[in-house]
Amino acid sequence: MEKIKVMIVGNNDNRIYEIKSLLRNDKVAFIGFSKLDENVLEKSISLKPHVMIIQCEDDYKAAIDLAEKIYIKIPGCAVILLCDSFDVNMIEKVMLAGIRKVLQFPIDTEILTENIELAHYMEKSRMENSDVSASNNMQSRIITVFGAKGGIGKTTITVNLAVSLAKMGKKVAVIDADLQFGDVNVYFDIDPKDTISELSQGNDAGDIDAIKRLMALHFSGVSIICAPKSPEYAEYVSPKNIETIINTMRPFYDYILIDTAPVFSDITMTAIENSNLVLLISVQDISTLRNTKITLNILESLQQKEKTELVINRLTKGLISLKDMQRVLNETIKNTIAFDFKTATTAHNKGIPIVLDAPKSEVGKDLKKLANYVVNTIDHRVS
Ligand SMILES: Nc1ncnc2c1ncn2[C@@H]1O[C@H](COP(=O)(O)OP(=O)(O)OP(=O)(O)O)[C@@H](O)[C@H]1O
Ligand SMILES: [Mg+2]
Repeated sequence: MEKIKVMIVGNNDNRIYEIKSLLRNDKVAFIGFSKLDENVLEKSISLKPHVMIIQCEDDYKAAIDLAEKIYIKIPGCAVILLCDSFDVNMIEKVMLAGIRKVLQFPIDTEILTENIELAHYMEKSRMENSDVSASNNMQSRIITVFGAKGGIGKTTITVNLAVSLAKMGKKVAVIDADLQFGDVNVYFDIDPKDTISELSQGNDAGDIDAIKRLMALHFSGVSIICAPKSPEYAEYVSPKNIETIINTMRPFYDYILIDTAPVFSDITMTAIENSNLVLLISVQDISTLRNTKITLNILESLQQKEKTELVINRLTKGLISLKDMQRVLNETIKNTIAFDFKTATTAHNKGIPIVLDAPKSEVGKDLKKLANYVVNTIDHRVS
C-alpha cells in the first residue's frame, strides 16, 4: 500500500525533529520540510504532499494563511495544525482555512498517525467524489433557488440541498443573495465576520483568495458567503458584483447554490441568468400558485424557463392535489417536499440542516431525493 506522503512546516527545529521522529512507521512517509517563510508555498507545490503538518506556537496567523493557500493551490493536500496550546478563539479561523485537524503537543506516534490517516482519507474522498483534482477545468453548476412568495422554504431547500450535495462528496458553495433579510447563516448556525457586502465594498469580488477568506465553512463541507448583516448594507452589492463573484468561484466548486429574496430584482435576475438550473419553489395555496404562474410566464418571456424546475414544498394531503397544481401551472411537477412542521422547525431552531438533524424523516428523505434529482438533471444538461 502506498504510504501517505507527509511534509512538515514550522520554524522550531526541535519540534520539527520531534514530529519527524514520530513519522517512522509503515503507514506514512516523511517527504520534506520547510520553514514557514516566503518560499514555503513554492516548496509545497513541488513536493505535493498528501498531508502537511504545520507546527505552530503562538503565531497562528502565518499558519492559517498558509493553510488557506494550500487549500486553493494543492487540492488533495490535507492540513493538520500541531500546536503547543490551542485557543478556542481560533476554531472559526481554523475552520475557514479548511484545516482538517488541530492537534496538541505532546503527542505520540499512534495518535498522530491515526489523525494523518483520517485527514488524508477525508481529503481523498473529497477529491475522488468531486474530482477537484481537475479543479482548473471544473465546470461549476450554478443553481438559483427562487420563489414568488416569502416564507415558502427557499432557504430551507437551498441549505439542505447544499449539505446533501456535500455529503455526496461534491464541493459546494452557497451565496446568500437575499441581500436584505438573508438568513442562510441562521440555518447553518454561523455568525459570519464578513459578508457579501464587505466583499463588494472592498472590490474583492474578482479575487478568489479574498472570497475564500471571507467565506464561512460549515462542518458539512459547505462554504458560505453570507448576506449583509443589516438591510442597509444591501445597496453595496450590485448585480455586477454578484456576476463577478459567481464567475470567480466557478473553477473551484462543483455546485454553487444561490438563495434569493422573493422579488424580481436585478440581483435575482443576475443569479437566474447565470444559472444552469432554477428551482422555483411553490406551496399549495392559491395565492402562491398564482404568483408562481406569473413567475413562470415572466421567466418564459426572459427565455429562462427552460432551465426552471418546480418544487412544491410543504406538501400535505387534503389540499389542492398535485394533479390540479400541474393543470393550473401547466407544468409537470417532479419534486415535492413533505410538510413536517416539527422536524423543519426543530432543525431551524437548532441551526442544523434537516438532512443532518433528521435524515430519516419524510422531509429529510424528500430533500435528499431532490439532491439526487438535481445531480442527474443538471449533469445531463451541462454535459
Ligand atoms: N417542508 C416543510 N415543512 C414544514 N415547515 C417547513 C418546510 N420547509 C420550510 N419550513 C419552515 O418554513 C419557514 C420558512 O422557511 P424558509 O426560511 O426556508 O422560507 P423562505 O422562502 O426562505 O423565506 P423568506 O422568503 O423569508 O426568505 C421556516 O420556519 C421553515 O422551518
Ligand atoms: Mg429565505
